[in-house]
Amino acid sequence: MAAADLGAEIARAAGLIAESSHHVVLTGAGVSKESGIPTFRGPGGLWTKLGEPSMDGYKIFMSDPAEWWRERLEREAQPDEFRHALDAAEPNAGHLALAELERMGAVRHVITQNVDDLHRRAGTLSLTEIHGNTRWMRCVGCHSRWPNAEIVVDPEALPPRCPDGRCGGVVKGDGVMFGEPIPPYALERCSAETLEADLFTIAGTTAQVYPAAGFPQLAVQRGVPLIEIDPDPTALTALAAVVLRGPAGELLPRLAEAVRERRAAAAG
Ligand code: OAD
Repeated sequence: MAAADLGAEIARAAGLIAESSHHVVLTGAGVSKESGIPTFRGPGGLWTKLGEPSMDGYKIFMSDPAEWWRERLEREAQPDEFRHALDAAEPNAGHLALAELERMGAVRHVITQNVDDLHRRAGTLSLTEIHGNTRWMRCVGCHSRWPNAEIVVDPEALPPRCPDGRCGGVVKGDGVMFGEPIPPYALERCSAETLEADLFTIAGTTAQVYPAAGFPQLAVQRGVPLIEIDPDPTALTALAAVVLRGPAGELLPRLAEAVRERRAAAAG
């Protein structure tokens, strides 16, 4: 995309934001790429390298949670490139710009497919982590969540159990496994935000994993304009009213700047 065209598209996106009162953003792995975390698909992607995992991850976990936990503890003792990238990552300029847009009232909610905690660490408050968060654990029975440090995983008493004695359900990592239903509280929040949205942005996602990819589609079906921020075309490019081609760490700060300038000009 030529620089002049990109500038004009950023101005159009800022115009849509100025007219909106409930702007919802769906982010994916691309938003964290500039924090050193690989994407899943495309060149250098985790699934490109390792192959896409089978859909029975959750079934395997539920069939023998103790064995799954034993393997996890063994895996944690081994070096792992992806886990190392997650542990070392810091929020980048894109995460920070989204948090700033929220503070300006220009973003009302962020739905992220990322499990890396970086939106929260950047300061985004209105956030649904639809695929969970690797720094948390969750009970499969009552859906309570705790920071990892709060759950004692005793190798002699696996699997860990929900500390709420009335529940006693099995505890797993909060990250959603393949084949695992999205926790109902996350789905309900995403649906409610999407039904209120009058502007929807997707950033750094191929938009091909469901149910997450269904939210921008639902918004478009309701007549809501869609902004796409991604270096490459996605499954939803044809539906987008504005397409910003480039890295999120560069374009989200430029978008925040354009919104700020527009407001300053309007204020006189
Ligand atoms: P993908 O790996 O499918 O897509 C990453 C997207 O980021 C692509 O569209 C890239 O073009 C784009 N991209 C690359 N670099 C970028 C940059 N610097 N700035 C912005 N965009 C960039 O990742 P997701 O769509 O997030 O699920 O994948 C969705 C789900 O698939 C993940 O949450 C994960 C995976 O299976 C689970 O693990 C449950």
